[in-house]
Amino acid sequence: MPPSPLRPSSSLRRPFPQRPFSRTRPPGRRRRRSAPVLLLGLAWTVPAGIGAQIQGVGDLPEPGQRTVLITGSTGGLGREVARSLAADGVHVIIHGRNEERARELLEEIRATHAGSGRYYLADFASLEQVRVLGEAVLRDYDRLDGLVNNAGIARLGTQDRVLSENGHELHFQVNYLAGYLLTDLLLPLLREGAPSRIVNVASRTQAPIDLDDLMLEAAYSVRQAYGGSKLAQIMHAFELAEVLRGTGVTANALHPSGVMDTDMILEAGLQPQSSVLTGRNAVLRLLDDPDIGSGGYFHVFEPARAHEQAYDPEVRSRLMAVSATLTGAAPVPSPASPSRTRPTPSR
Ligand SMILES: NC(=O)c1ccc[n+]([C@@H]2O[C@H](COP(=O)([O-])OP(=O)(O)OC[C@H]3O[C@@H](n4cnc5c(N)ncnc54)[C@H](OP(=O)(O)O)[C@@H]3O)[C@@H](O)[C@H]2O)c1
Repeated sequence: MPPSPLRPSSSLRRPFPQRPFSRTRPPGRRRRRSAPVLLLGLAWTVPAGIGAQIQGVGDLPEPGQRTVLITGSTGGLGREVARSLAADGVHVIIHGRNEERARELLEEIRATHAGSGRYYLADFASLEQVRVLGEAVLRDYDRLDGLVNNAGIARLGTQDRVLSENGHELHFQVNYLAGYLLTDLLLPLLREGAPSRIVNVASRTQAPIDLDDLMLEAAYSVRQAYGGSKLAQIMHAFELAEVLRGTGVTANALHPSGVMDTDMILEAGLQPQSSVLTGRNAVLRLLDDPDIGSGGYFHVFEPARAHEQAYDPEVRSRLMAVSATLTGAAPVPSPASPSRTRPTPSR
């Protein structure tokens, strides 16, 4: 099938609501509550240079309160992970594009859970928004105990190739590149919070990556686009684990559960085959289990073997290098010795 003509992502035409009234913490002062959640949303279309406008809404953690950022926590799996963590007293950093859903979750946390929350809106189809999200979190927090790279899309209903604002294939950017950049930006907070954890929510649907056609210009299919982005997330976790060895920051990837009852599945008209609560528990385990290690790939609860390409250090290294170039992030250093080339543990 010939590649579709390049065209912008439809998501870029959506209004991007932000909250100019929410304040950030003044230097040196930490407070439990920031501006109350205003129920009337102020929305405007995202202009170029949106970045400076991304601000958190909600509370900030108490000193020493465990703090976890979950991308894509306005719905589906991410929302369930955030709910559970908040019920356990954790401060959760909620992220998504949909302000109504973010606000509802924040209100639920305030009303019913022991923890606290704060939300940020950023569309991962824009690397500028990812970058400024990272900068906003760096401004508001001094440490992180966990980062769950969960936000994702699967454009299951269509074989149209869609590009991000940055001209990258949309699955590759939203599912992988955005998390690559955000992780890079937030590493100082994760190092400060060590022992801390990075969890990349991948999938058992994996497809080998053609490094010479990362954006699938030559041959596009939604399975290749989604599966390639998910394998890239796994390689990213493997590389992070190597690079962060000895720092107290660990990185793992997982397939959370198959065909869960989330929007991604329901909107594609698929019949769910598992509960989002199974996926939630699998993610929570990677955040909580003291014996989980680093550099692993898990099929729900079990250590598993990812697609063979993930174990090729040359491919991983090239992927990290090109990701750094595409995002403007610092490159994840390539492994320097043979002992650093093989992630652990795998079946
Ligand atoms: N569902 C499954 O069976 C399954 C199986 C294996 C792996 N997974 C993985 O699990 C993760 C969560 O999936 P899910 O099933 O929970 O999906 P979901 O219900 O569709 O939720 C996706 C989340 O990602 C956010 N998101 C989507 N596009 C975004 C963008 N351009 N910028 C920023 N945020 C964006 C959404 O925010 P908005 O509210 O703003 O839309 C939402 O919070 C994904 O990485 C997926 O690949 C799912």
